[in-house]
Amino acid sequence: MIVPADIEDDTGGVTRPARIAPGVTCTRRRAIGSMVGAFGLWFAGCRSATVANGEQGIGAQGIGLEQLLMQLRPRARELLALPGGGSAAQEEDYLRLVANCMSQLRPESEWTHDRDRPITMAARAYVPPMMLYELVLAPGARLELHDHRDYDGVLATIEGQVAVDSYHYATASGGHRSVLGSGVPTEASFLVRRTARQQLQRGDCASLARDRDNLHELVAGPAGCRLLDCFTHFRDGAGSHELVLEPVPVDAASGLFRAAWKG
Ligand SMILES: [Fe+2]
Repeated sequence: MIVPADIEDDTGGVTRPARIAPGVTCTRRRAIGSMVGAFGLWFAGCRSATVANGEQGIGAQGIGLEQLLMQLRPRARELLALPGGGSAAQEEDYLRLVANCMSQLRPESEWTHDRDRPITMAARAYVPPMMLYELVLAPGARLELHDHRDYDGVLATIEGQVAVDSYHYATASGGHRSVLGSGVPTEASFLVRRTARQQLQRGDCASLARDRDNLHELVAGPAGCRLLDCFTHFRDGAGSHELVLEPVPVDAASGLFRAAWKG
């Protein structure tokens, strides 16, 4: 697993050579400087939509996890240093950046897991405030509806296909119920609205923000899937909690459901 020492020292200074491309190494400062220019090219050439087309991106010519973290971690820290962790628009800008980097990922041989279990997860990097998780789902496996409390993320499809249903909290009249500042619902039951139904294939990315599409459930396709989640924690104690939906929607046409926290 990648830890902070693999990326930089505590002061953000030069530490050890970093591999930035096959056969090319340089110190962190030089690497960052070199990649500032390169990043503009990536950004210009990458897809800006939440869901990206799998024809490009993830492949043998992509970037590794260390490069990804070297690019994104300073941006994550900048965002978290803003009042309230930045505005919604600033968080979306950051998430687009994450998605564009994720779409360039190069699968690595260490990303291999036991496929005997329906769902396996493993941390691939923990460099606060960022965490990278690999997630492997067997064919048809379901990761139940859960939140991403006080963190956001981008999900990249490394192999296979996965269906993603996303939700946000809803007001009594069905509008968007913001949780920034006020926190998540504490009532015995509350309303959520399904905001998107996506079918992701290899190379596709999907993002969620602290206050947009923050709830989702995943169902693997017929061949299963291998995913990589890139999370950014906005405070200590950020974590996920499962929900259950009442089987009959409050309003099927608008995807409005009554939900409750599990347990
Ligand atoms: Fe999730």
